[in-house]
Amino acid sequence: MIFIDACFKKPTPTAPIWLMRQAGRYLSEYRATRAKAKNFIDFCRRSDLAAEATLQPIDILDADAAIMFSDILVVPLEMGIQVEFVEKTGPVLPSPIRTESDIDRLADDSADRLEYVYETLKITRRALAADKALIGFAGSPWTLATYMIEGGGSKNYAIAKKMAYSNPDLLHKLLRKLSVAIGDYLLRQIDAGADAVQIFDSWGGALEKSAFFEFDWRYTTQIADRVKSERPNTPVIIFGKGAGGYLEAIDGAFEVFGADWNTPMERAKSALFDRYALQGNMEPARLYDKKAIEIGARELARIMGKENGYIFNLGHGMQPDFSLDNVKFLIDFVRQIFAR
Ligand code: CP3
Repeated sequence: MIFIDACFKKPTPTAPIWLMRQAGRYLSEYRATRAKAKNFIDFCRRSDLAAEATLQPIDILDADAAIMFSDILVVPLEMGIQVEFVEKTGPVLPSPIRTESDIDRLADDSADRLEYVYETLKITRRALAADKALIGFAGSPWTLATYMIEGGGSKNYAIAKKMAYSNPDLLHKLLRKLSVAIGDYLLRQIDAGADAVQIFDSWGGALEKSAFFEFDWRYTTQIADRVKSERPNTPVIIFGKGAGGYLEAIDGAFEVFGADWNTPMERAKSALFDRYALQGNMEPARLYDKKAIEIGARELARIMGKENGYIFNLGHGMQPDFSLDNVKFLIDFVRQIFAR
């Protein structure tokens, strides 16, 4: 698997490529599979449908890795907090976490209730070619906490930040509980067939440096440490959206740092490449235009060139209105220009 080799900085014939949110609405096949489910959560719980959606980008795009189809919010859902996906609004959690008793009520056994995710991984791994990697994932504790405290997506994270500065002990209590649940969950994903796991630290960039390390990075790397000590042969990727300002202080036991598109890859390379493999970080909007794709991919080739330990990806997720033709063009182009 060239993806796994690249995670461990072993030589590969070209840079492996996969795309965050590669299973999604820009694919008509995805929309057809999704239409078979009652709603988005039912879709996540239907392992047969979720496995189908996981495999589509491999069949259609020939990506080097499949990311299991699910969502980061199944963890809060199975901790017992209501989660709804509202068309055009995104996730809504109508009973957010605000008090200590809200935290005490969260179930400790969410990893047991997520059996349908492990089933998705088992079905997918059986169907997937031996040279394609299967990536499991979870949200970081802080990222999940923002949804649980705010009650959905947020522009300024005011309620979660208020808790961080006015009642840090309460936030730490929630983050500790989430860290255990997420660690349990990732270990079970590996046992069900995930060849690598990615932690989506999507909203760390909302925090100033000291708060980032106190409330986010510390917990994210605790989980990575636990996975590394219990399953040392499985690479751990951390996607740090907004961590670009804090690169010099990034530490911890994991293999791959996933850079977002705000992070100059040259800076990520000089700060991290001696200790970590790098993944990323083409601006997703470049997919709207073939010329823009060529310029973006060439720039990454100039910086990461023929280095072992580089995985091509976008700097954040795909958009529903991307053209499939352009996505295929990107993948072919990357394979060509990164060939050793
Ligand atoms: O292809 C893949 O990458 C695998 C599947 C995947 C989904 N969500 C499916 C999904 C993954 C890895 C995620 C992670 C996720 N979910 C993150 C972290 C990644 C990031 O973007 O930073 C976050 C923050 C979420 C929370 C979430 N889920 C939001 C904000 C939304 C609504 C936004 C939107 O695009 O509608 C979702 C819903 C969701 N998760 C969709 C998909 C394909 C769209 C729902 C649909 O099909 O209608």
